[in-house]
Amino acid sequence: MLVLGLETSCDETGIALYDTERGLLAHEVYSQIAVHAEYGGVVPELASRDHVRKGLPLIRQVLGETGVTLKQLDGIAYTSGPGLVGALLTGACLGRSLAWSLGIPALGVHHMEGHLLAPMLEDESPDFPFIALLVSGGHTQLVQVDGIGQYSLLGESLDDAAGEAFDKAAKMMGLPYPGGPHLSRIAEQGDAERFKFPRPMTDRPGLDFSFSGLKTFTRTTILDCAVDGELAEQDKADIAAGFQAAVVDTLLIKCRRAMEQTGVNRLIIAGGVGANRSLRERLKAMAEKQGGKVFYPRPELCTDNGAMIAYAGAQRLRAGEQVGLAVACVPRWPLTQLTAVTATAVSENG
Ligand code: KG4
Ligand code: ZN
Repeated sequence: MLVLGLETSCDETGIALYDTERGLLAHEVYSQIAVHAEYGGVVPELASRDHVRKGLPLIRQVLGETGVTLKQLDGIAYTSGPGLVGALLTGACLGRSLAWSLGIPALGVHHMEGHLLAPMLEDESPDFPFIALLVSGGHTQLVQVDGIGQYSLLGESLDDAAGEAFDKAAKMMGLPYPGGPHLSRIAEQGDAERFKFPRPMTDRPGLDFSFSGLKTFTRTTILDCAVDGELAEQDKADIAAGFQAAVVDTLLIKCRRAMEQTGVNRLIIAGGVGANRSLRERLKAMAEKQGGKVFYPRPELCTDNGAMIAYAGAQRLRAGEQVGLAVACVPRWPLTQLTAVTATAVSENG
């Protein structure tokens, strides 16, 4: 089954072609960073307008790269939530109407299910069940995954998401938007031991997270170090390294606890923060020490992309799911509301 996937939930337009026989044929992502950079964050109306501009040209590009024609498509999947309502609607309108014009089924996909299944696009993909650490700009969740659509929430952030915490800390340090990748780059030159950042909620039982305290600690550390409102480069690097180590340690402690509590020793990391090198290395070492294994999507499939939507959509379309003719999206949509898919073949070549 050949499926076109559209991702437009936030500030990246992602388009991909996934074939259930041949795997991922192509994917392209257009990032809106330049559009939002001067505002220091995503401006929803600008995001929607840019998705409208980029959606069709990117579809043409992906079709051109693969030599696939519209008539060969068997289904279209688009992100229908959670996300920014206007941005979601652009993808839903495009995907739903294109599918209607071609007389093929369409399906709205849950953005976090896309992230969670992205490791399935790699050669080495996990068997069920596994634990998923979902760490993006909007979510930090630990989920037990027993099959496609069989998700139990083990824990989540009570306040800021991990990516949001990275972005806010980076902004305080005067780094450009989006701050996560910039902060992690300068952290490589820093001494993570110089400032003793807290490891929030790790000294009590449970699998929930809280990252807002790290923001306050970052702010006071900056105020202590700054001279005439300016931070020296080394101070910046040390604060970044201390901050990153605190987030990574906290995530690691909770992942280890989730593996111990459930007895499941396969772990996947997905979502934009999953591109963080330190997080990937530390979790890999931890999982191996636990006698388990960690699986990641390649970094470009950790951040928002169309491939994960095409993949998740293909699994559900293949099982016979589709939406009616209405163009609809669900800006707030708990992952645990999804229904199980019974199809057994889920690997890339399945
Ligand atoms: O999954 P994603 O692309 O979009 C959402 O669904 O939110 O995640 C974006 C988030 C941003 O907060 C960004 O700063 C963060 O992922 N991020 C990183 C890194 N790359 C992206 N955070 C830390 N280290 C990175 N290397
Ligand atoms: Zn995302």
